[in-house]
Amino acid sequence: MADKKRILIVDDEENHRFMVGLHLKENYDILEAQNGLEALNILDDEHVDLILLDVKMDVMDGLTFLSHLRKKNLNIPVIVISAFNNVRTAVESMKLGALDYITKPVDIEILKNQIENLLESEDKNEMELVEDYVYEGVYSKEGLGKIIDVLKLVAPTDATVLIMGESGTGKELVARSIHLNSPRKNEPFLAVNCAALNENLIESELFGHEKGAFTGAESRKLGKFELANGGTLFLDEVGELPISTQAKLLRVLQEGTFERVGGTKTIKTDVRIIAATNRDLEKMVQEGKFREDLYYRLNVFPVKLPPLRERKNEIPLLLDFFIKKYSQKFQKIIKGYEDGFLEKLMRYDFPGNIRELENIVERSIILARSERLTSDLLPPLKYSNGFDSGVKNIKEHEIEAIKNALKETGGNKTKAAELLGISRKTLHNKLKEYNIEV
Ligand SMILES: Nc1ncnc2c1ncn2[C@@H]1O[C@H](COP(=O)(O)OP(=O)(O)OP(=O)(O)O)[C@@H](O)[C@H]1O
Ligand SMILES: [Mg+2]
Repeated sequence: MADKKRILIVDDEENHRFMVGLHLKENYDILEAQNGLEALNILDDEHVDLILLDVKMDVMDGLTFLSHLRKKNLNIPVIVISAFNNVRTAVESMKLGALDYITKPVDIEILKNQIENLLESEDKNEMELVEDYVYEGVYSKEGLGKIIDVLKLVAPTDATVLIMGESGTGKELVARSIHLNSPRKNEPFLAVNCAALNENLIESELFGHEKGAFTGAESRKLGKFELANGGTLFLDEVGELPISTQAKLLRVLQEGTFERVGGTKTIKTDVRIIAATNRDLEKMVQEGKFREDLYYRLNVFPVKLPPLRERKNEIPLLLDFFIKKYSQKFQKIIKGYEDGFLEKLMRYDFPGNIRELENIVERSIILARSERLTSDLLPPLKYSNGFDSGVKNIKEHEIEAIKNALKETGGNKTKAAELLGISRKTLHNKLKEYNIEV
């Protein structure tokens, strides 16, 4: 059996070290330090795979420890444990290279999960911005950075790239970056939204048409394949392409030739194709809705963009980016945000991904009346557990307390209410509200 991985718990509370260690020692080797200084000494002598770091400690606090760790060039993954009301420290520590954070009181199951994920991830490098790839947005090394590393290799080639990802995950921005980092960067980058047009229009958009090709075709029009010659053509939402157009697209991809709608002359074109979709093309192929041969042509180099909820450590970076963008646009002085603002966003799942975050920030900045964005500027966010932010914990605690009281009293409501310090009527209302069966 492979050796157990080693975890160093840095915390000045002995109880806390003991508690956390107790849960982890079955699967990991545990080392303990009372403060940052002691931790640094341990690291001089011992190999450590992961660090659990408390922020508030007397002799060397967590943030100072982190900056020392970085100076030593040790790429050990760090999970920061911070008090619930201290999200800003968590953000600061992420900027210093911590990879994750968890709030006190620590939920052991969540912590175990985070540890597993970090230890599994091969790339244990700290978060930092990669400079040598042109990209018109922000990302962390741990998040989109991993994908950018791969794009660095494929961008300079002429390979067809298929970008997959939920709506708003940044597919178009990635497509542009591929073009910008290719030898075609000074040639056109043109986009066609395959979903926005009906069958006739899309063909004329892609291939152009001759005068009189159909009613309304009053003059010759050049299509995107002609206009993008020498450059890159971005086929957005390619899964929406009508089957008949798919055949024509396949031909251009295979032969590099096409005819304008209503025309007879064969035209040669040299374009690099980048396609994007938020649909499951493989499934569409199985269902007969997308040509298999076209799918293979497009899927030469697949790139999957993870949803924002799977790279939440990029939220603070994106937040800063959008605050700058929209405070400039609306000519407002916005210097940052309150902890609560970020905290609510960090707990949200963003079904609309980065675009949704961007819209939220834009709206908040329009509404803002002070220099810091506050959580009351946020629109109602639907959390996956059904409760609104902040209220969640109280409600959950209440439900738990009620259930416990009922258990303890064998379901006797009068006694349970007494135990809870509320009236029988209040208990009755709450049972109804929370749908608790007795
Ligand atoms: N890493 C990033 N940094 C900054 N802004 C970003 C980033 N990624 C995406 N955005 C912004 O988020 C918005 C959505 O991105 P984009 O249009 O590229 O997503 P998409 O996947 O094409 O979405 P859709 O499927 O809805 O077309 C855009 O305004 C884009 O500029
Ligand atoms: Mg798009």
